Amino acid sequence: MKSFLTILLPILLTSFITIPSPVNAWGAEAHKTIGQIAQNFLKPDIARKVAALFQDKSFGGQLPLASLWADEVKHRRGPFGVWSAPLHFLDTLDDPGRSCSVDMERDCPDAKCVVGAIANYTTQLDCANGYDKFTRDIALRFLAHFFGDITQPLHVCGREKGGNEVIITFDGQRENLHAIWDTQMVEKRLQDFESDFVQYSDFLTKNIQNGEYTSESKDWVSCNNSPNSTTLCPLTWAIDTNAINCPFVWDTVDKNPNIDLGGGYYSDAVPIIDKQIAKGGYRLGVFLNLILSKSC
Ligand SMILES: *[C@@H]1O[C@H](CO)[C@@H](O)[C@H](O)[C@H]1NC(C)=O
Ligand SMILES: *[C@@H]1O[C@H](CO)[C@@H](O)[C@H](O)[C@H]1NC(C)=O
Repeated sequence: MKSFLTILLPILLTSFITIPSPVNAWGAEAHKTIGQIAQNFLKPDIARKVAALFQDKSFGGQLPLASLWADEVKHRRGPFGVWSAPLHFLDTLDDPGRSCSVDMERDCPDAKCVVGAIANYTTQLDCANGYDKFTRDIALRFLAHFFGDITQPLHVCGREKGGNEVIITFDGQRENLHAIWDTQMVEKRLQDFESDFVQYSDFLTKNIQNGEYTSESKDWVSCNNSPNSTTLCPLTWAIDTNAINCPFVWDTVDKNPNIDLGGGYYSDAVPIIDKQIAKGGYRLGVFLNLILSKSC
């Protein structure tokens, strides 16, 4: 008869492997939605270039699943592990609730943050710069993820580790503030779309093409017109996202720390979450159409 451990050990190991990481990025659903919106905006020839770059066939040649890769490797050993974790956010040394700001010299002097990373991997993806196919594949995977992270308010906020250290109540469960922005609020919103990220993406895509966001969506990508867009754009986007922390993200939590955030706070957050996800997806699509349009 097999010993107890021989039976139990594989079960234990599997459960360890599947435990979600406590330090987050927009959860998987938000990233897939952002990837799908971008995919909806890719020109056909650009979509073919994207598919050709991905060596990992499990992505199906598309952005939604590729966008999850950066979170999968982040805590693993290997060439893209641990060191890449700080590239998912920008810990601002501002004072959200009272004053919000992003200052690259103060907050990210070595460029090892989401702003520096987007600039870095944009350069690597651009075929004019002569990087090999493997480097460009990895750059595209990182960009598909970081274009998402940079729109999550608590990824551009240093206060209490981007809210990771702030325990609140959401729909009766104790959670940290960062996690509900990454995951719980997005998953609750998805229930309005049969928990299907493709339906949610299509809803947001329509609002960009011909709806609520159409006129302002031009501003979401206007930095692209700068000759310096590689560095200017991610900084512009970080400043835009950081401002949501003042006062929305923190106000209720500061004034009424014991309230359940699954009620009025969630309802007020929905239009913000929708718009941030729409911005991430639209920018990624427009940017890839530009960067990958060259024939080198
Ligand atoms: C730029 O990319 C390279 C290759 O992945 C990496 O070693 C470096 O740390 C990156 N720098 C930033 C600021 O993202
Ligand atoms: C380009 O970006 C760099 C780095 O952010 C900045 O120092 C420089 O002033 C910018 N140049 C222009 C022409 O905007």
